[in-house]
Amino acid sequence: MDEKLLAIKNSAISLILETKSPKELEEIRIQFLGRNGEVTQLLKELPKIPKEDRPKIGSLTNEVKNIIEDTIKTRLASLKENKTNALPAFDVTEPINESDKTLGHLHLVTQAIREITAIFNEIGFTRVRYPEIEWDWYAFTSLNFPQNHPARDDWETFFIEQPPDPKKGPVLLTPHTSSGQVREMEKGKLPIKMLNIAKTYRRQSDISHTPMFHQFEGLVVGKDIAISDLKGTLNYFVKSYFGENRKSRIRPYHFQFTEPSFEVDITCGVCLGKGCRLCKEGWLELGGAGMVHPNVLRAGNVDPEKFTGFAFGWGVERVLMMKDGIKIDDLRTLYSNDLDFLKQF
Ligand code: FA5
Repeated sequence: MDEKLLAIKNSAISLILETKSPKELEEIRIQFLGRNGEVTQLLKELPKIPKEDRPKIGSLTNEVKNIIEDTIKTRLASLKENKTNALPAFDVTEPINESDKTLGHLHLVTQAIREITAIFNEIGFTRVRYPEIEWDWYAFTSLNFPQNHPARDDWETFFIEQPPDPKKGPVLLTPHTSSGQVREMEKGKLPIKMLNIAKTYRRQSDISHTPMFHQFEGLVVGKDIAISDLKGTLNYFVKSYFGENRKSRIRPYHFQFTEPSFEVDITCGVCLGKGCRLCKEGWLELGGAGMVHPNVLRAGNVDPEKFTGFAFGWGVERVLMMKDGIKIDDLRTLYSNDLDFLKQF
């Protein structure tokens, strides 16, 4: 009998604590304390047990009855209190109070991508998108990279563990937007005037490098495309994005997929080319450019005897950092999800 009472008490308490409404509580009260309830039934059986045990069992049964009643009372009070504290139902269609309106805005990098796209659209470039998860063929081999080039090292590029394609080789996260060059030529339409903006990935992280960053790549292929066309395009972009008072210059460099290749610089925004503490010589590095290598044109089924082209590829985050009025002393801040930082722009 003792054990039976204990089991009834435990099961009643756990059921009471799980109730969500006074109605459920009432059902439990009836189940245990009602006229035919489990505790009431036990009390009815008292006359059947030996006389000497009756006082002990009687007081134990009353104790269990009181505990169940008290637990029901406490639960009822807590259900009522929760109801008062509960949040009012939220109507998503209700018009917002004007004074509560706190509008967010596009991320700084998205703003830059839109501005860059608009600038190049003005002179006839079309924005395209190509895969971020790419074959080695498009990222390296078709771009004239030899098999032993250091960019193919695990410590430079992120490779995906997937069996290589017999023709296109291993799968990787594209380290540059140049992987769009041959994909664009494969469309078979000339002339080409593409602007490929995408996420790119490299195994790098320091104040001026992030493992994921964005590049924008220009590719122009057609008849008689010359270095002067590249130079004119660069100047147009620099003046549109950084301001009329800024100038660009090109100096010789080396890329596998352009010949000749150049590094592009712009005049420093602080001293406008005179030389200052920030830039030393008056110039800041913007990114790479060059005339499309004949091997790359061939890989894209374009005849290098008939057509020429130029290409450039720069970091969105880097050009953003070089813009007047934007003071970012660590590129990683852009991706740290710091709202106090992001709200400034
Ligand atoms: C390239 O990636 C070439 N594909 C550019 C190119 C295109 C040259 C077409 C010729 C013709 P490079 O490795 O220098 O070049 O990178 C270009 C720009 O990407 C750099 O100037 C920099 O602005 C940016 N960049 C490179 N690595 C990172 C990084 N880890 N984090 C942020 N920006 C980066």
